[in-house]
Amino acid sequence: MSETKTPVLKVTDLGIDFGGLTAVNDLSMNVYENEICGLIGPNGAGKTTVFNMLTKVYQPSRGTIELCGKSTEKMSTIDVNKAGIARTFQNIRLFMNMSVLDNVKTGLHNDISYGTIESILRLPRFAKQEKEADAKAMELLKIFGLDTKADVIAGNLPYGEQRRLEIARALATDPKLLLLDEPAAGMNPQETDELMKTIRFVRDHFKIAILLIEHDMKLVMGICERITVLNFGMMLAQGTPAEIQSNPEVIRAYLGE
Ligand SMILES: Nc1ncnc2c1ncn2[C@@H]1O[C@H](COP(=O)(O)OP(=O)(O)O)[C@@H](O)[C@H]1O
Ligand SMILES: [Mg+2]
Repeated sequence: MSETKTPVLKVTDLGIDFGGLTAVNDLSMNVYENEICGLIGPNGAGKTTVFNMLTKVYQPSRGTIELCGKSTEKMSTIDVNKAGIARTFQNIRLFMNMSVLDNVKTGLHNDISYGTIESILRLPRFAKQEKEADAKAMELLKIFGLDTKADVIAGNLPYGEQRRLEIARALATDPKLLLLDEPAAGMNPQETDELMKTIRFVRDHFKIAILLIEHDMKLVMGICERITVLNFGMMLAQGTPAEIQSNPEVIRAYLGE
C-alpha cells in the first residue's frame, strides 16, 4: 500500500438515507491496488448497503465514490461493472438452471464482440471466440476446484461450491476490485480455510484489490491487511487486524460479544 498512489477505490463521506432512516453516514475509506480489505460490523450495521452503493444498486444520498480516480456518480450498475467492480451477494445469486460452465461464461460477455447474426450463423469469428470463452471459463473453474463439475447444473452443487462458483463468475468480468459479501457464510471450518487460500491466490494471480464483508473473524483477521468497522451505519474504527482486535470500542460494540 502506498498513500501517494491513486487508490483503486476511494470513498469519501459516503451516506444514504431510506426515508427517515440513515443507514450509512460519513463513511470514508480507501482500497489500494493488490490489497485485501475487510468491512465488518454487527448485523444491520450497513455493510451490504455500502456494497449496494459501490455497485450503484443504490444511489448514495451524500459523498463520493471514485474507482481508479474516476467518479462513479453518473454510472449505472452495468457501467460500474464494466469500469471494474464485480461482486458476490450475501444470498447467492447464480443461474441455478444453467451449467457451472455457462454461469461463468455469462460473466465473460463484457469482452465478447461477435454480433447476433454471426452467432446465429455460427461464423468463424463466433466459433473462435466461443472456444476462447470456454477456455477462459475453464481456467477460472480450475482455480476454484470446479473444473470437473463444468457440466453440472449450478443448482445441484453443494452450497460451498455454489459460493465458490459465484466468485468465479464475478472474476470472469475481469474486475479491478472484487467485492465479496459474506463469502464464508454457511461454510464449514475446512471449507472456510480453503476459501481463505483461494482468496489470497486470486489477489496474487489476478493482481486485483478485494474488499470483503465477513463475520468469520479467523478469515477476516487472517487475510485482511486493513479493516473498517461499521456500527449503526457509522465508521467505528479503521486499521490493521492487530489494531482492530485491541480497539476497546470495537471490542465493546462487536468483538467482545
Ligand atoms: N432498501 C432499503 N430500504 C430501507 N431500509 C434499508 C434498505 N436497505 C437496507 N436498509 C436498512 O439499512 C440497514 C443496514 O442494512 P444492511 O446494509 O443490510 O446491514 P448489514 O449488511 O451490515 O447486516 C438496516 O437497518 C436495513 O434495514
Ligand atoms: Mg449484509
